[in-house]
Amino acid sequence: MELLDSIKINARKHNKRIVLPEGYEERTIRAADIALAENIARIILIGDPAEIKSRAAALGLKNLERATLVNPKSHSKKEHYVSMMVELRKNKGMTGEEASKLIEDPLYLGVLMIKNGDADGEVSGADHATGDVVRPALQYVKTAPGITVVSGAFIMILPDKSFGENGVLIFADGGVHPDPTDKELAEIAIATANTARALGGFEPKVALLSFSTKGSATHEMVDKVISATKIAQQMAPDLIIDGELQGDAALVEAICIKKAPGSKIAGKANVLIFPDLNCGNIAYKLVQRLAHAEAIGPILQGMAAPINDLSRGCSVNDIVSMIAITANQAAG
Ligand code: ACO
Repeated sequence: MELLDSIKINARKHNKRIVLPEGYEERTIRAADIALAENIARIILIGDPAEIKSRAAALGLKNLERATLVNPKSHSKKEHYVSMMVELRKNKGMTGEEASKLIEDPLYLGVLMIKNGDADGEVSGADHATGDVVRPALQYVKTAPGITVVSGAFIMILPDKSFGENGVLIFADGGVHPDPTDKELAEIAIATANTARALGGFEPKVALLSFSTKGSATHEMVDKVISATKIAQQMAPDLIIDGELQGDAALVEAICIKKAPGSKIAGKANVLIFPDLNCGNIAYKLVQRLAHAEAIGPILQGMAAPINDLSRGCSVNDIVSMIAITANQAAG
């Protein structure tokens, strides 16, 4: 069975409530309609209900009748959420006046619904930049206990099944943290290994990538990856983690034997960790376009509740997949 099919089947079992703040965005409401038709999740759309209904009618979307529609201007829990915002951000000087304005922004309303237990997860970003989606989540939902850094993983599904786990690899960080320290990079590696287990359903083989393999080059950028590898190995001694490795040593057995003999990865990495966001974001888009891979993400890792971003170039199917992934994360 294809990975996304099993993710959708699992989502159906849990019937989670997924909030979609971009209630007027055409791909989003089309995806909401499909998610409802396929019983992937219960859907909450944010926006003026009359306007959403009129758009749904114009598009001939019948299943949206089953969505919960939440008006950001007249939401019944608006005042409660404003009090929560003031309390949660009092050390940042949040005032009632400021919070009253912010709560009418669907991206803040969605996050506050999750914080208050009124939704289980959020998918957004078809119409907003990553920073706009992630910032409210970082401010109000925050990181999971024991986690200091949120990062963005991509499930890459390649037509060439000889790489990774039958053509599936997880890339990180391609979406969130611009320049992680060695400790943060180690945390990203372990979080991504957990994502591989939870969503990919496979045992991770994690490669920390660099332009150097096992000392073939020296530079402070390489030192960061070497140090991150050591920290990650100490944090998770049972995981298969190796670095610093070049992309070819991580992915091709014959090259790994030559450049990194004895590596536990043995040229069969299925989780690729990039040293910074330039590398991770460029890499996922190149593999998506040049190798015709399906790229699903960024799946946010390390957040206290599942809140996921979309690329603004996403398709309707990408959004449906992300709703299913978010429902899986919400189910734990
Ligand atoms: N993990 C955990 N907490 C974080 C992180 C992180 N990665 N980054 C910021 N924070 C915290 C801050 O400590 C701060 O906490 P506080 O307000 O309680 O003190 C809060 O989040 C907000 O941080 P700010 O500094 O105000 O927000 P910032 O402007 O740095 O935004 C953001 C953070 C949005 C993640 C920023 O780093 C960013 O824009 N990243 C790049 C996103 C991007 O453009 N990705 C590429 C495109 S994705 C694609 O192509 C699909």
